Amino acid sequence: MLRLAGKWFNLYGVCLVTVIETSSPEETGILGKQLGSILRAGDMLCLYGGLGAGKTCFAQGIARGLGIEGTVTSPTFTLINEYYGRLPLYHMDVYRLDSVMEMDDLGYEEYFYSGGVILIEWAEKINELLPEERLDITIDRCPDEESCRQITISPRGERYRLLIEELMTVVRAGN
Ligand SMILES: Nc1ncnc2c1ncn2[C@@H]1O[C@H](COP(=O)(O)OP(=O)(O)OP(=O)(O)O)[C@@H](O)[C@H]1O
Ligand SMILES: [Mg+2]
Repeated sequence: MLRLAGKWFNLYGVCLVTVIETSSPEETGILGKQLGSILRAGDMLCLYGGLGAGKTCFAQGIARGLGIEGTVTSPTFTLINEYYGRLPLYHMDVYRLDSVMEMDDLGYEEYFYSGGVILIEWAEKINELLPEERLDITIDRCPDEESCRQITISPRGERYRLLIEELMTVVRAGN
């Protein structure tokens, strides 16, 4: 069962952070799939969390939710993989990036503003290039349980606040 572990609001009642706990890779995939199924053209998802946290596992769920079939792997050496489902998915992993200049060589802006869905693992490495409006998703291991992950979702901007409201409706319905 996906477990809603917490929600934090600011003084104006705007939800800033939602935390969901998963207890297996499959559950993390389900949450990703639920999010993937409601994404729109141009959505930007930034994934954070240490080695083996579950970012690629979550990304695989996103791909399924976008109707992408076949294997989705971490593009660690290629920096970017492109998939085509209901919308294009540009899956980046910038862990091995030596300098943000390499992002220019990649033509990152064309991807960012292409109308596809952008998903970036290790997004903190290119912090200065990230648009202000985006969905930040941090995956942490839970302290005592090997297969438990805390997934902290922080919307930046109105589009992403609405997206998270919609996601929570889907999670509650278990679709
Ligand atoms: N609840 C969980 N959610 C996701 N993965 C889990 C969970 N419990 C255990 N795991 C395991 O953790 C690992 C997550 O690997 P994954 O490749 O998704 O991590 P990553 O964050 O992409 O790492 P990297 O930065 O090295 O690419 C897998 O081996 C998976 O089986
Ligand atoms: Mg990965």
